[in-house]
Amino acid sequence: MLPGGRSYPVLVGRGAAGELAVHLSETALQPRRAAVITQEGIPISVDPGFEHRVFTIPDGEAAKTLSTIESLCRSFAEWGLTRGDVVVGVGGGVVTDVAGFAAASFHRGVPVVHVATTLLAQVDAAIGGKTGVNLPEGKNLVGAFWQPTLVLCDTAALETLPERELRCGLGEMAKYHFLGGRDLDGRPLEERVARCVEIKAEVVSADEREAGRRAILNYGHTLGHAIETSGRYDLRHGEAVAIGLVYAAELSWTLGRIDEARVAEHRRIVEGYDLPTHLPDGADAEELLAVMRRDKKALDGLTFVLDGGSGPGADGCSIEVVSGVDLETARSVLERIR
Ligand code: GLY
Repeated sequence: MLPGGRSYPVLVGRGAAGELAVHLSETALQPRRAAVITQEGIPISVDPGFEHRVFTIPDGEAAKTLSTIESLCRSFAEWGLTRGDVVVGVGGGVVTDVAGFAAASFHRGVPVVHVATTLLAQVDAAIGGKTGVNLPEGKNLVGAFWQPTLVLCDTAALETLPERELRCGLGEMAKYHFLGGRDLDGRPLEERVARCVEIKAEVVSADEREAGRRAILNYGHTLGHAIETSGRYDLRHGEAVAIGLVYAAELSWTLGRIDEARVAEHRRIVEGYDLPTHLPDGADAEELLAVMRRDKKALDGLTFVLDGGSGPGADGCSIEVVSGVDLETARSVLERIR
């Protein structure tokens, strides 16, 4: 449920994409046409059950540009898509970001449905309405909050997902263990995906536009983003976030916010997903610190999302945003996770 009482269904399961026509007909939408946006190699195709055209965008992160949005919107205009129709994004996070932003922009807003086919999209990108593209100056610098009307997470697509793509999502999944997801342990993958969606939906519903609480979804991401931004290490997003989770735990312990058992719990969870717990060989601490300072525009020390807040609340989550962490502490903890 979002502010203003809006809410949307998220369906998780094997073959969920095949239910698109049924679930679309159950929404309040009565579209005449669907613009289906996807990429080559996405293992799922959809049939909305009415007139549709498929628009294939380029592969990879390189597709997340304003020129892709322009090209899609021009195709929509030429075809005569209207606000009464629907955009359907079928793919991973790149597709849901691009499809969502094209939908948010065209005619000042066309409904969008996401059919998420990667673990990262299912537990993160497709949920919560963040859409956007990159600029040469940085990632996700242009975008909009545009909530989907319906999300289908087809777990059959995960069976053929390349190992490295799976690892992208596993880091996010590990993160949810500390955001109220202690019950994730030991569940089958499908149930884990559903539980992660539930946790993210709860956080987003409390703070759709990231005025406060939604920032906890960035747990593990301050160092994770710095590792990715530096571009020197051959690590997937989930691997960088995994190292960031262990770093955040060690930092919380150093600041006296959590005990050793809780740090060990972070390591156990991250290792349980077979993800790294140490900085990559040769990591340059000064470079990582410089990126982390820029990342959070820190005026006075660095800002992190850390464990050991006044909680745990009813949901077992004691993660919060903490500013003013001094550089020397941040540096010494980096050395500890080498
Ligand atoms: N991926 C973080 C968020 O959706 O807020």
